[in-house]
Amino acid sequence: MSTAGLDLLLITGVRAVDPARNLDGNVDCVVERGVITRLGKDAISAELRASERAVHFDGRGKLLLPAFVDLHAHVREPGEEYKEDIRSGLRAAAHGGFAHICAMPNTKPVNDKRSITEAIVARAREVGGPTLHPIGAITVGQLGKELTEVADLRDAGAVGISDDGRCVMNAAVMRRALQYAETFDIPVIQHCEDHDLTEGAEMHEGRVSTELGLRGWPAVAEDIIVARDVLLAESTRAKYHVAHVSTRGAVRIIREAKARGIRVTAEVTPHHLLLTHDAVVGYRTACKVNPPLREEADVLALQAALADGTIDAIATDHAPHSVLEKDCEFAEARPGMVGLEFAISLMFQLVSQGKLPLARLVDALSTSPSKIIAIEPPTLKEGKVAELVLFDPARPYLVGNLVSKSENTPFLGQTLQGRVLLTLARGELVHRLD
Ligand code: NCD
Repeated sequence: MSTAGLDLLLITGVRAVDPARNLDGNVDCVVERGVITRLGKDAISAELRASERAVHFDGRGKLLLPAFVDLHAHVREPGEEYKEDIRSGLRAAAHGGFAHICAMPNTKPVNDKRSITEAIVARAREVGGPTLHPIGAITVGQLGKELTEVADLRDAGAVGISDDGRCVMNAAVMRRALQYAETFDIPVIQHCEDHDLTEGAEMHEGRVSTELGLRGWPAVAEDIIVARDVLLAESTRAKYHVAHVSTRGAVRIIREAKARGIRVTAEVTPHHLLLTHDAVVGYRTACKVNPPLREEADVLALQAALADGTIDAIATDHAPHSVLEKDCEFAEARPGMVGLEFAISLMFQLVSQGKLPLARLVDALSTSPSKIIAIEPPTLKEGKVAELVLFDPARPYLVGNLVSKSENTPFLGQTLQGRVLLTLARGELVHRLD
C-alpha cells in the first residue's frame, strides 16, 4: 500500500489502552522503522523530537490501541470481484483499524482446497497491508456432505474452517469435522441456522415480519444448532466458535457451556448489537442480513454478553453486495452489510453510553479474536512490530465514500462519532486519514 515506509513516527500525549498488558494511561509512543521502540511517559527525547525524518502526531484527546482483528469478512475474491476483491477489502480493513482479517470461504469457487487457499494467500501478500487469514470450508463446495482436507487447508494458511452462509446441518458431519479439526487444534466456525426452520425466510420472525407480511426466521433456528453443537464440542473437546450470535437463547446456551468448561467461543456483529427488526420497516433491503436483525431483548442480551465476556469477540461479517443486489424487491435482495471501515466508530457508541468498558471493547476487537485463531495478538509493547491504531473519539464520521467497492449498509449517510486516524499493520502505515 502506498502509505507504507514511515521511518520515524512520534505520537505525543496519547491515552494508550491495551488490556492484554493491563495498560491504560497517558504516554508518548515512538515507532522506528516499523517497531515500537519506546512507549511511556516522556518517551520522546529532544533529539528524536528534533529529528527531520520524524512524522509527529499530537495524541491529545485520542486513543492509541492495538490494531484490530476481524474473524469474519467476505472479500469475494475469487469470483465476485465486482462486489469486493482482496485489494479493496484489505484497504477497507486498514481504514477501519484492522491489521488482520479472516476471509470467509463462500467465494466462487468455494475455498475448499489447498490450491485456492494458496492463491488467496499469495494475492493478499502481493497486495500488502493488513494480513489476510483464509478460513477454509468445512465441507466440499459447502454442500454439507464431504469433509475437506483440513490438513492441506491449514498448511496453506487457513486458521479455521467454516461453511459460513450455510449451516452444517448433518450432526454426523459436524461431529467428524470437530474431531478432525481437534487434531490440528483449529476452530470450527459454525453459521448456526437450522435451514429446515428458515426455509424461505426473509427476516426475523416476530411482530415486524407479521406487519410487513414477510416470511420469518425464528430465533429458535439459531438456538437449536448452538445447543446441538455445544454438546458435540463437549464430547469431541474440539474448539467450537459460534459466528454472528444474534439471539438471547444462543447467548444463554453459550454462557452455560462456558461455565461447564466447554471450549466454545463466540462473536457478535456491530449491527446485531445496535439494530432491531424495526429497522427493516419500509422493506429496507440494506437491513436484510443473515442472521436477521432481532428484537430489543436480544440486542440487550448481546450487549450484556459482550460486556461480561460471554461473547468473546466483535466481528464485522463484512458482506459486500452490489447496488443491483440490494436495489430490488425485498425477497430478491441478497443478505449482508459492509462494516469494516466503521466498526470501531459504531462500537464506540457503546462505550460512550456506558454499556461497554473501553478495555473490553479493545479486547473484543483485538486480543480475544487473535487468541481464537491462534495468532500473536497485536500489542502496545516496546520491541514489537507496530500493529496499532490511533483513534479520535471526537472526530465525526459521515458514513459514505467508502473504499470498499460496495456501500450496502443501513448506516450510510449517518454521522458517527469517532474515526480511525492511523493504522499500522506489520509495522507499516497502511492508513492515514488526511
Ligand atoms: C453473507 C454473505 O453475503 O456472504 N451474508 C450475510 O448476510 N451475512 C453470508 C450469509 O451468512 O448468508
